[in-house]
Amino acid sequence: MQSLFTPVRLGKADILNRFVMAPMTRSRANVDGSPGSLAATYYAQRADAGLIITEGVFPSADGKGYVRTPGIETEAQIAGWKAVATAVHDAGGRIFMQLMHTGRISHPLLQPEGKAPVAPSAIRPQGQSWTDEGQKDFVTPRALTTVEVKDIIAAYRRATGNALAAGFDGVELHGATGYLPEQFLSSGSNRRTDAYGGSLENRARFILETLAAMIEEAGPGRVGLKISPEMNFNDIKDDAPEETYGYLVEHLNAKDMAYLHVALFGTAKDYHALLRPRFGGAYIVGGGLTRDSAEALLREGKADAVAFGSSFLANPDLPERFRRNAPLNQPDRATFYTPGANGYTDYPTLAQSSGQAAAH
Ligand SMILES: Cc1cc2nc3c(=O)[nH]c(=O)nc-3n(C[C@H](O)[C@H](O)[C@H](O)COP(=O)(O)O)c2cc1C
Repeated sequence: MQSLFTPVRLGKADILNRFVMAPMTRSRANVDGSPGSLAATYYAQRADAGLIITEGVFPSADGKGYVRTPGIETEAQIAGWKAVATAVHDAGGRIFMQLMHTGRISHPLLQPEGKAPVAPSAIRPQGQSWTDEGQKDFVTPRALTTVEVKDIIAAYRRATGNALAAGFDGVELHGATGYLPEQFLSSGSNRRTDAYGGSLENRARFILETLAAMIEEAGPGRVGLKISPEMNFNDIKDDAPEETYGYLVEHLNAKDMAYLHVALFGTAKDYHALLRPRFGGAYIVGGGLTRDSAEALLREGKADAVAFGSSFLANPDLPERFRRNAPLNQPDRATFYTPGANGYTDYPTLAQSSGQAAAH
């Protein structure tokens, strides 16, 4: 029977248990977009996860949408990530890099030369961006030309090559939470009239072509996809989400992918029942899981692995705590995105907590 502590294969990666650390932006990168000096420590502390997925990393500078987020484009960025991958491997873990292009969920203050963010269509999202100058209203993005769409797909391909050159076990395309790939997929943000807009087939083309380019670069079994159907975050809307995601997942190249990662938030619809049979490859479930709900999913054969976000952020030794049914540290939202070690590398393990308790 599957459980949290049995090994599993995700594409080419044999992982030691079914814990996946979900991708989490932490806004602690250097000014040049390389990961900050504590990133290797932070990820290595969590290497007991079967698989770590990094924070969202921009494939090209126009994909940056939050302050102090990292990229994988320049030599300095690649070198910084190499140190992270090495630290995780030395600690016995496996690590994929999440490639995240935020599209219209950005701001000129975060963009090269202060230009408008790019998107499938010039439709301004409701909400605010987090910039170096504080919260700013989103602006109307500039619609990409067809040639520029192909340039962005090429950037994802290069980023994939760079991540593998840095020693990563694979890459995940961030197709969730209202960022560029989901902006193409969703009817509310895509009014294009070229081959990347209009029909469902055309709206799904960006994700499918990007994955194909990434797989071509990485080879089979090293590319995953994250989606979050009906998570209406970042003002993303689709007229017929079940049809949209059913179509997308049916057309994924499951045999050459490492996994499909589906995070659900607050929808009553059972997307897992809809999507898992349509995929057929390794299936990761995430979003609000606890030890018990994750164990139940695995026991009932509804997931091959389970992703934990905020609980991994606050508990570097999450697998050990679950094994012992020990209490968890609570995540501190105030330090999710602030620079420095506080709320990043200083959450104690069980052993450290009991050591501290004994010392007092
Ligand atoms: C601080 C923070 C940052 C996040 N950043 C990302 C991100 O960069 N990419 C992504 O796909 N999801 C991101 N997420 C969402 C998580 O990957 C995950 O899907 C979500 O937290 C639900 O899992 P949980 O309930 O176990 O926390 C973030 C979540 C948190 C708490």
